[in-house]
Amino acid sequence: MTTVTYFDNAATSWPKPSAVRAALDAYFGEGGGNPGRAGHRMSIAAAQIIENARDLLAELLNADDSTRIILTKNATEGLNLAIYGLLEPGDHVITSHVEHNSVMRPLRHLESEGVELTVVANAPDGTLDPDQVRSAIKSNTRLITTLHGSNVMGTLLPIAEIAQIARDRSIPYLVDASQTAGAIPIDVDKLGVDMVAFTGHKALLGLTGTGGIYIRDGIEPRPFMRGGTGSSSDLEHQPEFLPDMYESGTINVAGFAGLAAGVGHLLETGIAAVAAHERALVTRFIAGVEGLDAVTVHGPAEIKDRCGVLSFNIDQLHPSEVGTLLDQEYGILSRVGLHCAPGTHQTIGTFPTGSVRFGFSIMNTEAEVDHAIGAVEDIVAWAANGGASDA
Ligand code: ALA
Repeated sequence: MTTVTYFDNAATSWPKPSAVRAALDAYFGEGGGNPGRAGHRMSIAAAQIIENARDLLAELLNADDSTRIILTKNATEGLNLAIYGLLEPGDHVITSHVEHNSVMRPLRHLESEGVELTVVANAPDGTLDPDQVRSAIKSNTRLITTLHGSNVMGTLLPIAEIAQIARDRSIPYLVDASQTAGAIPIDVDKLGVDMVAFTGHKALLGLTGTGGIYIRDGIEPRPFMRGGTGSSSDLEHQPEFLPDMYESGTINVAGFAGLAAGVGHLLETGIAAVAAHERALVTRFIAGVEGLDAVTVHGPAEIKDRCGVLSFNIDQLHPSEVGTLLDQEYGILSRVGLHCAPGTHQTIGTFPTGSVRFGFSIMNTEAEVDHAIGAVEDIVAWAANGGASDA
């Protein structure tokens, strides 16, 4: 197999811990029934897989009631559940300018249907002054939603401060933790956030097709999907208890078996250790390319304001050209372009061409980062020579 340096973990993580594959084997062996739909052993085993995943996710987020962890097919579904379930025409919602389209597209759609939307401006490095959010609040503000870590440049937003502002005004606060769940400690109690949407296949080291949302007690979005839950089967109305109210249809048991193993691995490692590892890699890469005038690394100067995602551009080169060279000549896999976040690139000043993005994981090493620094040095030298020499 060709050796690759996989830096596209912000899109989906690879490789997964061996425990994830083992969990899938166990699923195929014993847990292959439909959870909650029968009393036989394989249905019970499948239900145990799901409840184990839910319990581990609750532990990860420090949610005291695991039934408040709603399992979905990705973060987008969790975000849509909260956004469409809480807002009505005439309501006002506040978000930031560095959101992923998983938040911005539902909000723009609702805006076309009579929801008032304020998009507060971030600084060019993506950071956000929480006072911007405070000043944007109106009497009809019904939701504040921001991401935790930018999927483009890794900037962390001040979610604890925004949560306090939201709480002071009794406005629900929804956090998109797609890039940070599993990579940066998130304690829903300490942070005071009301809802946290997460995806299973990035830093949580699980499978695609898995995700979820934590919803604090007292917040009740309308379900946007109704159907069979295996519970209250005598009723033609949706159960009103959690998690069944929001989980209709057969759940992705194999996916959540894998996700539980990924989360278990992270809980053993410790999320603070993951954060320290990924930040060390970011620091190493930035220091390694600092002397290259043609390279601009976007995002905050201070590492405490970053997670393990970074973006850069090389003067005179289109990001897709850099991405192709990195892949074909050096085996380094990145994501280039706009990363489904046009507002972020407007904020940085890289719209519409975008940037080259590296997303690190706990699996990446310093040697891989050094390889990438060498590759960037080569590409800069190649471009300075008019692209004539071998890259
Ligand atoms: N949302 C993922 C990304 O930023 C897919 O790449």
